[in-house]
Amino acid sequence: MQGIEIVATARALPGRCVTNVELSQTVDTSDQWIRTRTGIGQRYRCEEETTAGMAIEAAKKAVEKSGIDKSEIGIVLVATTTPEYAFPSTACLVQQALGLEEDIMSFDINAACAGFLYGLGIVRSMLQNSRKTYALVIGSEHLSKIINYEDRGSCILFGDGAGAAIAKSSTKTFYHKGFTRGNKEFLYCNGLGSKENDFYIHMEGNQVFRFAVSAIEDGVEGILAEAGLTMNDIDYVVCHQANDRIISHVEKKYKDYSAVFYKNIEFYGNTSAASIPICLDEMGEKGLLKEGMRILMVGFGAGFTWSSCLLTW
Ligand code: UT7
Repeated sequence: MQGIEIVATARALPGRCVTNVELSQTVDTSDQWIRTRTGIGQRYRCEEETTAGMAIEAAKKAVEKSGIDKSEIGIVLVATTTPEYAFPSTACLVQQALGLEEDIMSFDINAACAGFLYGLGIVRSMLQNSRKTYALVIGSEHLSKIINYEDRGSCILFGDGAGAAIAKSSTKTFYHKGFTRGNKEFLYCNGLGSKENDFYIHMEGNQVFRFAVSAIEDGVEGILAEAGLTMNDIDYVVCHQANDRIISHVEKKYKDYSAVFYKNIEFYGNTSAASIPICLDEMGEKGLLKEGMRILMVGFGAGFTWSSCLLTW
């Protein structure tokens, strides 16, 4: 089976930036605690913005940057846990707002923070049988609407935002893996119609932390083994930005390669499905991504799920 490559990325963030100092005025925490325990300095929070609105903005920018003919987009996939509607999907709203053709497939997926990479795996298969050339893969999250701002163990962690990528089939090296260990206990949020009248994130932070460290290690090792490569062959590792200390744990294992781990959690917090495409877009903007580079990505989160992917730029 052919792989995929990414031809353009973009991101969209709410206008409102919330610093640690501001948060510490309403909940019992401090800038110092948040920075040392998570690496986060600020995050963005939606006011008027929405999951669909940010997805649309990021998608429009990605299409513009790519210079492609938008009638060649055959799939719109939005990875999100925070859509405005149970239906229609956020992806349908993106299709309409961008004026995309109607003979295409548009749908949302929920694989929590692994959603964007699950999405790349899904569109890789779908593009093989598509009459059109491109897929729009978007991660968009309005997490602040499901945050309990009285729970200092979770409210400091998350941020809102969106990242979009345009993918096409490619003969360039591409590997993809997925993983699921059904777990509802340590990280969950009730859904529509739930009898429990509580729609906030519930998280046992240290249990999730333990899973996250092993998920990155398994994701990295699994994909390297499948590709027959070593860390020497990798130009960048882009992990889901959940907590700087999670990535640092793994960096210690690969101590000779710590420079390849890209991190931007300081500026955005944990934006779940949006975090990896936001990283890719920022890296592109900084001129870090050059043709032929091998990027290893790992996303992980509620479920428990993880997904890893080796993509050639
Ligand atoms: O996106 C994927 C899903 N999520 C994750 O990957 C999150 C993974 N987990 C984490 O990032 C971390 O577990 C947290 C940042 C959520 C929490 O950090 P921690 O170092 O695991 O803290 P903890 O929950 O073990 O709590 C340690 C102490 C506790 O105080 P005591 O009981 O030792 O007195 C907490 O009450 O830190 C306290 N604490 C805080 N103190 C100040 C917890 N949150 C805060 C806070 N400010 N915001």
